[in-house]
Amino acid sequence: MDVEGQFSQASAWPFKNFGEKHDLRNESMHLYKITIAELIRTEVIIMSTEDLVNLANLAKRSYSPVPFKLKGQFDRHGVVLHDREDEFGSRSRLKAITETLGNTALGEVYDLGGNAGYFSLELCGQGLAKRATVFDTSEELLELGRQMANATSLGDQVHFLNQPIDLDFIKTMPAVDTVICLNLLHHAGILFDVETVRKMGWETYLYHCLVAFQQKCNVLIFGVGLKGKKPTNWPIAPFRRARKIVSVAERAGWAVVYDANVLEIARLGVRKADNSRKKFRFKELVNGLSESTPLVARLKNKSSGKLGDYHLYILRN
Ligand SMILES: C[S@@+](CC[C@H](N)C(=O)[O-])C[C@H]1O[C@@H](n2cnc3c(N)ncnc32)[C@H](O)[C@@H]1O
Repeated sequence: MDVEGQFSQASAWPFKNFGEKHDLRNESMHLYKITIAELIRTEVIIMSTEDLVNLANLAKRSYSPVPFKLKGQFDRHGVVLHDREDEFGSRSRLKAITETLGNTALGEVYDLGGNAGYFSLELCGQGLAKRATVFDTSEELLELGRQMANATSLGDQVHFLNQPIDLDFIKTMPAVDTVICLNLLHHAGILFDVETVRKMGWETYLYHCLVAFQQKCNVLIFGVGLKGKKPTNWPIAPFRRARKIVSVAERAGWAVVYDANVLEIARLGVRKADNSRKKFRFKELVNGLSESTPLVARLKNKSSGKLGDYHLYILRN
């Protein structure tokens, strides 16, 4: 079912409260958008300012921003969130995911290393995914995720589990429709699977992970940070890494339907940032130069900050 279909089905009940003018059959696109905004408002549980302040304090430790639905409530109460709120380009990544997969029902989702569940909460909240389980090892962030799920009426749809992820887990986990594995696997060899990555090297390790994911899901939303010495045990020039991952994914049997540098998504927009896998990129030249020229490295880091080191891939079976 397409997104509009999902929204119109999911939103059947609140329209009764809004009267005849919201009959979708005769609505223009403009009115349709207004009705979705109304739907979003109805699904947020109103919290006291004190509860919001507590949640905002917990959210300071999160890697991602709070979900859109909840952010409105913080803003209305004047509760200030932390200033590094979207340090890792989560909103840009989400935009690329929803624009690329907007017509795909993502069904049952596993979100590996999902932190406080930003992507799961947004995808379930928007009706793109039916249910999600977020796996992470930080109990504090999982608890934040649970609270945000409850505050946005998603407590029954998004679950949070304290579970370490490694290659064995990926090989043995149950099959689901979609796996989100964002910014986790560049830590393999350092935070987990240390011996495995040391023995086989990170590229072969990634290949095994991607082959295992092939047996487990139809859609894989995958992201990595290609910064400094990470991923470890990968003796390949850093500026070649983003494109190399495309060839590893294809060798593992995946079709790469989107790949973009996160900074470029933020700067150029979702579509223009896509396809770095096919085109020669000026950025690659700059990255290549910066490896051997400290001055270029300094200029590059000044202009791009952290986001330029992160890459997003959307893979389909
Ligand atoms: C860099 S953050 C990425 C968060 C989120 N996926 C995103 O892209 O916005 C990595 C997350 O993985 C978690 N993590 C680290 N090692 C893990 C492991 N072995 N199993 C599960 N989670 C892990 C950390 O607690 C952290 O929340």
